[in-house]
Amino acid sequence: MVTGNNARPEFCRRKMPGMNAGTRNIQELAFMKAEESFRGKNALITGASQGLGAVIARIFAAEGCNVYINCAHGVEKAEAVAGDIRKRGGSAQLFQCDITDERQVSERFATLKPIDILINNARLNPYHRRPGDTESGWFAKMLAVNLIGPYLTILAAIEGMKARRWGRIVNISSIQGHVPVPRIMMPYGASKAGLNELTRCFAVEAAAYNVTVNTVSPGMIITENVGNNLTTAELEEKIKKIPLQRGADPEEIARTVLYTAKSSYMTGETVNVNGGLWLTP
Ligand SMILES: NC(=O)c1ccc[n+]([C@@H]2O[C@H](COP(=O)([O-])OP(=O)(O)OC[C@H]3O[C@@H](n4cnc5c(N)ncnc54)[C@H](OP(=O)(O)O)[C@@H]3O)[C@@H](O)[C@H]2O)c1
Repeated sequence: MVTGNNARPEFCRRKMPGMNAGTRNIQELAFMKAEESFRGKNALITGASQGLGAVIARIFAAEGCNVYINCAHGVEKAEAVAGDIRKRGGSAQLFQCDITDERQVSERFATLKPIDILINNARLNPYHRRPGDTESGWFAKMLAVNLIGPYLTILAAIEGMKARRWGRIVNISSIQGHVPVPRIMMPYGASKAGLNELTRCFAVEAAAYNVTVNTVSPGMIITENVGNNLTTAELEEKIKKIPLQRGADPEEIARTVLYTAKSSYMTGETVNVNGGLWLTP
């Protein structure tokens, strides 16, 4: 009679690079943990000049990644984030690239070291509509940054990941892409709903190559700019609806992004991290 690992069908025993199927002792598990280390990996975080992106960059740098700090406009802020990481002993470089510009994305990505980890975090702030923006113009701008941009960055990074048989992509969505939202938020919500779909499509496309693609979908995050978007009264009103009774610290979300990227067997998923907000009416 065949026993142990050999009793299992071949598709159960199929090995991913560097991994053993079957039961492991504690030393083997510790070794696996070391294998999943992000030390030396190249991680690109879009929209990392401020807010959540800057915190994600710091957390991935602390894990030993070489991080690319992307932005399109706020180069000085992005350079300050990179400089701060370097000052603390990490490895970080500014990567200026407008993710909505297909030519820039293809030309400038080609100048980087191979990207192992891509975090699509950049967004157009839904509160930044200008008085002159038409309905269709505003919607198009929203889709360009929040949906077409991530599509282009994934296209630029994913073939290399597939060829190297390792990659992690995390798209940062929003609770507003999962629930009905007021008129003012519809273009933003629709762009994030589209991003959720991109996650699922690329997850299936890349799974056979050991490349995972997931979404992290936050609720309210208390970034340094929250006060520019909402008054104190508006903020308090929104917080009242959150079961955990507070907005998230950016580090809490950034750690969820890290956990998601480190999860080698999760792909195509949405990790909702919203303090229970979407459980309430
Ligand atoms: N804040 C929240 O409460 C909240 C809640 C749920 C989900 N989220 C999601 O979390 C992520 C981060 O949010 P946040 O509040 O930290 O964002 P944010 O403060 O508005 O920062 C957006 C970042 O995107 C960059 N960016 C904008 N257009 C770009 C372009 N064309 N190319 C490259 N970079 C571009 C900006 O830099 P430049 O303009 O200098 O290029 C900036 O670094 C977003 O995906 C957002 O949807 C946020």
